[in-house]
Amino acid sequence: MEALWWNKVDVLSINADQIVFADKYVLFRGIMLGGVRFGVYVPEDLLGKLDQCARSLGIGSRSRLVQEALRLLVSEYGWRGSGRSTGIIGVVYNHEVEGVDEALTDVQHGFLDVIVAVLHVHLDREKCLLAIVVKGDSSRIKRLLSKLLGLKGVLTARPLLLEAQPP
Ligand code: NI
Repeated sequence: MEALWWNKVDVLSINADQIVFADKYVLFRGIMLGGVRFGVYVPEDLLGKLDQCARSLGIGSRSRLVQEALRLLVSEYGWRGSGRSTGIIGVVYNHEVEGVDEALTDVQHGFLDVIVAVLHVHLDREKCLLAIVVKGDSSRIKRLLSKLLGLKGVLTARPLLLEAQPP
């Protein structure tokens, strides 16, 4: 059974037996049918970090480590391939950057169809955290995320999302 690997981590979609990346089709053929073995090239510096990670997690084999990493990848990106998602977008920004508060508010007002609620926490003198609870059309949530990431003053915008059931 063939098995391919990717060289670019930019996921476009995921379904039951393949992940589609930006530049090619990839992987997972047969993983639902009892598993598949494949070879993976890992650069030396990354291998060192992976082994360190495995030790700290108490994972004894590289196979198990790769499986855990792939599960994490699927849970991180799986929502992107689904029609509807729900969860939180965490945004950390520097509120001293001129105009960032207004820009964040403007963006949110453009996504009333997917934003359920927002929590604002003042983290320190400069940084604020927004926890934006979202639910709805995944493509709209992706658009919201990319708009947030594009704002000057936003330090990070990270999704914590799951596939949602249709209403
Ligand atoms: Ni604040």
